[in-house]
Amino acid sequence: MSDMQVDLDLLREFEQGLDPRYPERSKVPARVLGYGEISTVFAIEVDGVRDLAFKRLPIFHTTGEMEQYQAAHEEYNRLLEEEIGLHMPAHGHVAFLCDTGRPIFYIIQKQLPYSSVGNRAMHLLPREDTLALVRQILLELSKVWSFNARQDRLQVALDGQISNWCIEGFDPQNPRLKEGASLWYVDTSTPLFRVQGVEQLDPELFLRSAPSFLAWVLRLLFLEDVVNRYYDFHRVAVDLVANFYKEQRPDMIPDLVERVNDFFAQEVAHLGVQPITEKEVRSYYREDALIWSLYLSMRKVDRFIHTRLLRREYPYILPGTIVR
Ligand SMILES: Nc1ncnc2c1ncn2[C@@H]1O[C@H](COP(=O)(O)OP(=O)(O)OP(=O)(O)O)[C@@H](O)[C@H]1O
Ligand SMILES: [Mg+2]
Repeated sequence: MSDMQVDLDLLREFEQGLDPRYPERSKVPARVLGYGEISTVFAIEVDGVRDLAFKRLPIFHTTGEMEQYQAAHEEYNRLLEEEIGLHMPAHGHVAFLCDTGRPIFYIIQKQLPYSSVGNRAMHLLPREDTLALVRQILLELSKVWSFNARQDRLQVALDGQISNWCIEGFDPQNPRLKEGASLWYVDTSTPLFRVQGVEQLDPELFLRSAPSFLAWVLRLLFLEDVVNRYYDFHRVAVDLVANFYKEQRPDMIPDLVERVNDFFAQEVAHLGVQPITEKEVRSYYREDALIWSLYLSMRKVDRFIHTRLLRREYPYILPGTIVR
């Protein structure tokens, strides 16, 4: 569904006026809605596009690569929405070469309310509703793994993190998880799926934003593991629960572990997912936090090498930029 028509010139102008180091100072007024590992999500404050979210992906070396990504992204959205039945915001994309010749891809989605994103809403919801939110995420996830189990041709991966889900009709003034409210899934920038066992997108793309001096070691040690994780319901659930460490709510983890295991045993017994443990969640979180913080510092070193020493372009936007 490429139903969103956005003015290409506006995005060219935005891209041209963007300082990846200080994205908020961009010439076309913009706000960062979220930082991903490979994309940065913007709201652009210009009439006609204020209700959209723009995810900028500067990872491609050639237009051929970008076209392949575009095809995978389209098909991934179609699978999730039409075959699997997730609720997704309306979306489209814009692809072009920027002034320096670099291919730039923007995923465009309808912008969903800021406080309705899971990792924000969870801080407003009463405890019982947060537990119910996680259960609802598990229900959505089980649609994906039921799909994977009921046929052999396609295997679809999903990143179940709490920050990837928005609550429909969420009211921050009266923060409850309303009966029957749907969840929207927003994170489509890593469109991983396998057809007859063959990955449709080269996972190398996701190493592009990594410093070149690290890429080989990441490829060797983590790439396969990180990619496989998203195909595994058990590990996706561990990741989801581990988010509660990151969000400063470790007090909820014992209950969450119990609820996840009840869900696995009672509601999706046919999928045969192994139960998760608190210990597993804790060690996963420690390792994950360490890897990502090291990774971010290395990227900052890489940015320094590019911009200050080599005086070259550094196209990636890193989180933790001081907004002044
Ligand atoms: N359609 C949207 N409307 C409003 N906010 C959004 C939308 N899409 C994404 N965001 C915000 O941006 C954040 C990151 O988006 P998303 O998960 O799609 O990016 P990502 O690059 O895949 O991130 P990560 O690699 O961290 O999972 C979200 O958690 C949310 O806060
Ligand atoms: Mg995400």
